[in-house]
Amino acid sequence: MKRLEHLFKQNQEWAENIKADNPDFFTNLAAQQTPEYLWIGCSDSRVPANQLTGLLPGDIFVHRNVANLVVHTDVNSLSVLQYAVDVLQVKHVIVCGHYGCGGILAAMRGETSGLIDNWLLNVQDVYDKYQSQVDAIEDDGARADYMCEINVAEQVTNLCKTSIIRDAWGRGQQVAVHGWIYSISDGLLRDLDLCIEKSTEVAGIHQTACDLAKPYLNK
Ligand code: CO
Repeated sequence: MKRLEHLFKQNQEWAENIKADNPDFFTNLAAQQTPEYLWIGCSDSRVPANQLTGLLPGDIFVHRNVANLVVHTDVNSLSVLQYAVDVLQVKHVIVCGHYGCGGILAAMRGETSGLIDNWLLNVQDVYDKYQSQVDAIEDDGARADYMCEINVAEQVTNLCKTSIIRDAWGRGQQVAVHGWIYSISDGLLRDLDLCIEKSTEVAGIHQTACDLAKPYLNK
């Protein structure tokens, strides 16, 4: 128990399984990584980027934090983004939120848990920006689902405003920013129709986020 032996045993089995299909898998991968995707998702243990997309090691560059936020002063996420776009030349940056996100629920309820409250002020900012749309939804669950969706929209906006994405577009590099949401209850991803490929499309994100409220208004 002290050394978590079961995890090492499972790791050996996992590596053996991959090598059974492709004996050179790890030796090839050790030479380089050429992922096409950068995933920015929630730290939630139920939202594992590789497994839910069916991607293998080497396929997807991953950054996860609580509530899948892109904060302009967060050197950690910006460094991941810069390396992925400038060095790895990923073609797609995906922000993936999820329904039932504890960080979003805590921010909506004004719960206090310590240091993380400050991080979640970024979610509070999302609510403040879309307060009239959010408050127009009567059902508590629907309101929370909508908040999870517009939080993704806001992070897509934040990504597109970074010097990293703007400079990439400016020099003609093809990189698309996508907004997705994942449902823990059925394991399925949904595209929120937030695929931004050039700077002129950024202004439209706000309207898309407002429109996402429509299916919830009569619930
Ligand atoms: Co979450």
